[in-house]
Amino acid sequence: MDVETAAAALRAGLLIGMPTETVYGLAANALDAQAVLRIFAAKGRPSFDPLIVHVADPDQVWEVAEPSPRARRLAERFWPGPLTLVLPRRACIPDVVTSGLDTVGVRCPDHPLARALIRATGRPLAAPSANRFGRISPTTAAHVVEQLGAAVAGVLDGGPCRVGVESTVLLPDPAPIILRPGGITREALTDFLGEAVAVAGREQRADHLPAQAPGMLASHYAPRAPLSLREGAWPTAADVGRLAFRDPPPRGGPSLVLSPTGDLAEAAANLFAMLRWLDASGVATIVAELVPADGLGLAINDRLVRAAGRG
Ligand code: TXA
Ligand code: MG
Repeated sequence: MDVETAAAALRAGLLIGMPTETVYGLAANALDAQAVLRIFAAKGRPSFDPLIVHVADPDQVWEVAEPSPRARRLAERFWPGPLTLVLPRRACIPDVVTSGLDTVGVRCPDHPLARALIRATGRPLAAPSANRFGRISPTTAAHVVEQLGAAVAGVLDGGPCRVGVESTVLLPDPAPIILRPGGITREALTDFLGEAVAVAGREQRADHLPAQAPGMLASHYAPRAPLSLREGAWPTAADVGRLAFRDPPPRGGPSLVLSPTGDLAEAAANLFAMLRWLDASGVATIVAELVPADGLGLAINDRLVRAAGRG
C-alpha cells in the first residue's frame, strides 16, 4: 500500500499499520473519536489507556498540546525522535484519546514514511503499538499483519524498526520524570536539561495514569510461553528457550543472543523479534537475562521485567 492510499483510508476513519523508528503503530485520525474507538476494539485494549498522538513536524504539536519552556527545548532537541512528552491537551483532542485525562502524550516520530503519512493525511495520528493487547510489540510489517491484519485497511512497510523499543514517555513539568523508559535514555535527557530526571516507580506512574491503565499492569509485552528472568545457571532442558545478552547459553533448548558485542542499541533493536522467535519455536517456557541497566538497558529491562509479569 502506498502513502496516498493509506492517508485516504485514515481520512475515511479506517486504521493503518504505520512504521516508526521504535515499533509499528496502529494509527487512526486522532481528531475522529469513532476512528480512535476502532483502535481499542482492534487491539482488544481497555479504553482507559491513553494513546500517543503523532505529528509530522515538531511545530505542529502545539496545535494539540500546550507548550512550556522545558517542553519547547526538549521538542527542539529530541524531535523527530523516540521521546513522548505528556503535556496539557488542547480541546481538539477527543476524550477517547486521553482516557479523559487533561494531558496528552505527543511525539514526532523519526521515520520518513510515518511523517509522510501524517502529512498526507493532514491530521495528527493516534497510534499505540500495533500488537494485540498485552502481547509483544511489532518491529516489522509482517508482525502487524500476523496479529492485526484483519483490522487494518493496510500496513505501510517501512522495514524493521531501527530502535526496537517504544518511545520514552516523559512528563516534563513541573520537574522532569520518566513515566516509561524507552528509546531516549535518561542520561541523554539529564545531560541536555542539566537537571535531575527521575524515573517513576509504580506509585508515581499511578499518579499520572487512569487507575487501571495497562501501563500499570505487571504483565505486559508478554509472549505466549511464560517468561521468567534468569537466576543463576541457564536451564538446559530442550523445551526452555533462552534469551541472552551477549554470551551464548550452554547447549540445551533454543537460544538467542541479543548482541554478541554487548551493544545495548543492537540488543534493543533485536529484543521483540527475538522474543517472538523463541515463542514461535514452541518452547514451554522462556528464560531471559537482564542487561546492564544503563542507557537503553533501562528500557530493555523494563520490558523484560513486565514480560515476566513482575512490573
Ligand atoms: O514508541 C512508541 O511510543 C509507540 C509508537 C507507535 O509511537 N507507541 C506506543 O504506544 O508505545 P502505546 O499506546 O503502546 O503506549 C502508550 C503509553 C501509555 O500506555 C501510557 O503509559 C503513556 O504512553 N501515555 C500516553 N498518554 C499519556 C498521558 N496523557 N499521561 C500519561 N501517560 C501517557
Ligand atoms: Mg504498547
